[in-house]
Formats: sequence, C-alpha cells, structure tokens
Amino acid sequence: MQISVIGAGYVGLTTAACLAEIGHQVLCADSDLDKLKELNAGRLPFFEPHLDALVKRNTASGRLQFTSPAEAIEQGIAIFICVGTPPLENGEADLSAIESVARTIASSARGYRLVIEKSTVPVQTAKRLWKHLSIYNVTGLEFDVVSNPEFLREGSAVGDFFHPDRIVIGAESPRAVALMKEIYRPVLTSQTTCPVHSQCPSSHEIPLIVTDTNSAELVKHASNSFLAMKISFINLVADACEAAGADIAKVAEGMGSDKRIGQSFLNPGIGFGGFCFPKDLQAFVRIGEKLGCDFSLLKEVEKINLRRADQFVAKVKKELWVLRGKTLAIWGLAFKPDTDDVRFAPALNIVRRLLAEGASIRAYDPQAMEKAKEELPGITYCLSHYEAAQGADAVLVLTEWNEFRNLDWDTLSRTVAHPLLIDGRNLYHADEAAAHGFAYICIGKEPHAGTDHVPAANGCEPAPADTVSPVTSASSQPVSVPAVS
Ligand code: UDX
Repeated sequence: MQISVIGAGYVGLTTAACLAEIGHQVLCADSDLDKLKELNAGRLPFFEPHLDALVKRNTASGRLQFTSPAEAIEQGIAIFICVGTPPLENGEADLSAIESVARTIASSARGYRLVIEKSTVPVQTAKRLWKHLSIYNVTGLEFDVVSNPEFLREGSAVGDFFHPDRIVIGAESPRAVALMKEIYRPVLTSQTTCPVHSQCPSSHEIPLIVTDTNSAELVKHASNSFLAMKISFINLVADACEAAGADIAKVAEGMGSDKRIGQSFLNPGIGFGGFCFPKDLQAFVRIGEKLGCDFSLLKEVEKINLRRADQFVAKVKKELWVLRGKTLAIWGLAFKPDTDDVRFAPALNIVRRLLAEGASIRAYDPQAMEKAKEELPGITYCLSHYEAAQGADAVLVLTEWNEFRNLDWDTLSRTVAHPLLIDGRNLYHADEAAAHGFAYICIGKEPHAGTDHVPAANGCEPAPADTVSPVTSASSQPVSVPAVS
C-alpha cells in the first residue's frame, strides 16, 4: 500500500522503516528540513538498535523515501500522523503539530485518505480531527480517521513493532478497519522476517483490539500511567524494605509471581524518565481534570517519582558527608539502556543536584554523552566507565547498561580513590562487591558494610551479614527461623 508517515521521530521513523520492511511503499516526512537532509544522507537523528540497518536497507530498495509533508500527504493513501505532542506549560499535550497536518490534508489531498493518529493524544482527539478535516475540506476529500496508539519502547522499538503485545485500532468505519488489517497483516499473521532476532520468540497470535476511537486513545494514556504507577509502587516498597531490613528483589519476586501482578516493571531504582511516562502521566492528570475525574492517584505517582533523585543524593551524602571537593563517577546518563535519549532522564536531575553540592563529576555513557553535553556542560566526559572511576570517592550507577554488568573489580579497585559503589539500578550483588572490598549501597536493601564502617582501602571484607537472614533461594529449602519474641 502507498503509505505516508508524517513525523520522523522515534515513533515515525521506526513505523516508516518497519512498514517498508513488511513490503509497503512508504514516504516518511518531517517539517524539519535539516533532519530530512540528514535522513536522505543516511544519518539517523538518534540511536536505536537495528533501526539504522532497516532504514538503509529499505531506502536502498526504494520502499522507503524521505520527503516533505506536502508531498507525502499528496501521495499517501494511508497517512500515519506521528508528530510530537510535547507538554505545554500546564502539562496538557500540545496538539498544534497535529492540527497543522490536518489542515494540509484537508486543503491539498484528493480522493480518499485514511488518516491514522499514532502520536500520543488526549481522548476525543480523533473526533476533533474528524471535525477539523470536515470543516477545512476544500477538495471534496473522502476520509476516515483512525486511532492506532503506539506502544514501542526506546531501545527495543524495532522488535516491539514486529512482536507487539497487541495492536489497537480505534475506528468508526468497517472500511477503515479493513484497511488497517491490510496494513498490519504481515505482522498479525507473523509472516515477516523479523530484523531483530535470528530465532524469533515463539510467534503467537497477536491480539488485534478493534474499538471506537475514544477507547483506543485512552488505552495509551491508561497503559503508560499504569506502568508508571507500577514503578512508583515498587519504589515505594523499596523504601519500606530499606527501613525494615528486607530485600526488595525477593519482595518483587514474591509479588511478581502472582500472574495478576507479573514480574515486569517491578525493578526499583532512581525513578522513571524518558519522553513518555513523565509527560503522558501529566497529560492524563490534565485529561482527568477536564473530564471531572479525580486522578490524584497519578499525582502521587509523579510525586514519588520526583522524590527518587533527592533520596538517591541523600544516600550519597550519608556515605560521603560533605560532597564539596569530592569526585563522583557517574555510570549511565541515558534514561534507560540501549538509547541515547536523556530527555527527563533521572540521571540529569541527580547530577545537577550533586554539582550544586560542589562535587566534581566524571561521567560515562555508551551512547548518550553527546546529547547529555547539551544538558550538562560542566562535567568531565570519559571514554569508559573505568576511566570515569579514576580517583573517584564513589561510583554511582544511574543506567543499567549491559556493558557495566561484568565488572573487572580488580581494575576498578585500583582505579578508585575510595571503594564505594552506590547502585541506583541494583545491577550488582552486595556480597560480590564486598568480596572485592567495596562498600555497596543499592535500592531497597540494607546498605552493605558501607554505612558505619569504612572498609580498609582496597582490602577484602568478611562475609556479609545477611547470611543469617531467613532467605529462601529458589534452589534451597526454607531455613528454620527462631520465633520472634
Ligand atoms: C514507554 C512504554 O514502555 C512504551 O510502551 C510507550 O510506547 C512509550 O513509553 P520507554 O519510555 O521507551 O517506553 O521506556 P520504558 O522501557 O517503558 O522505561 C521507562 C522508564 O521506566 C525508564 O526510565 C526505565 O528506567 C524506568 N523503569 C522501567 C524502571 O525504573 N523500572 C522498571 O521496572 C521498568
């Protein structure tokens, strides 16, 4: 099918490249001419695993082309609107870019158009769009408006397109539903070669949820707000674990084993970031207000999340007392691994607070340093996490990149000034750190040999305290615990 995608951001570029990959003829457009020039030169505006190769392969085959919005709207039968809906001052979503695409469609397109809303928008936007197209329709255009919310995650966007948990279609006409099924047929029937996995995860029937446009739009905000709530909830429980002397990893495992809860998105840490959860949460709160619904629950989710940075900085100060003149190594700046995106990244908040306390920062991130330099000009950017740790009074882990996982502890302990690891993503094990003479502080577990005990510099420590606690690992039988008097 001749498809046009307006907006070449994460959602637009991924959608355009993947639709071309499954055989459609795709025009991808953006009003940013510099971005178009870069794309036509084969340079992507962001790092996303597998996307570069996909764009190259499909431009080479001629199935994917980059052009102006006007030309794309003229050519495409199905038009995916993937423009940005950034937050306005009051947290509401800015829909001006969507409105302007609608104007162009209404004033220039001829014949029939399937107008597909893929940007994250407040409920009732598709109805508004339909009305707007009708008002400004000067060409006698026939059209349908569809809501097709996107659920891709940065860092795994291409895989998420080929293996979606569901595809949601909000439409008011059978013709529109039929066309959408046609567009996604190769994915729905798993008749595609997935560019991500050599061995694809077992192909299961992908649920296709067909509903009205309002319900489809609400699926997106409700899903993102629920996931954000799940993260804030586990962070809240992590606080309780620290205070009570429990182990969040075990508590999360216990919770997540309940299928009604599920294991995913129960990783405690320094809070959620990125361009979706924070803004979608705010937008949903505003939508609630407009609809006369009390969404104070979501306001709490936001508050809990904003507190994470303060709580983490408090951990650092508890260990190092005065931060002025201290050198801190930062491992990870991106809001999550496998992306170069630092928008609303918790690491930015934390580093700004540490700088305000007078600490000097040596940072490393595998992908996000160029983008971080625009936000954090006053810190030292290093070529590796070991270089960042040079002379550090503490190593702070802020993004759980895979390359940080298998640590060369000996190299690290020769590099740091003080063997202290404060882990905001629970990447390591306390006893592993202790075995290498490191004090280890993480999220949702009691500090380990850190707090009131300064380990001999670079010396090993005795076995950690928690060997006596009543832990039951998957393999071992529960140990008997003396009755609590
Ligand atoms: C999210 C949604 O997952 C996706 O469906 C939607 O389309 C866009 O928004 P994304 O923002 O790319 O995707 O990242 P996600 O993987 O959801 O992580 C969001 C944030 O939550 C990250 O900062 C991550 O570090 C944090 N997170 C995630 C946790 O702190 N704990 C978890 O258990 C999971």
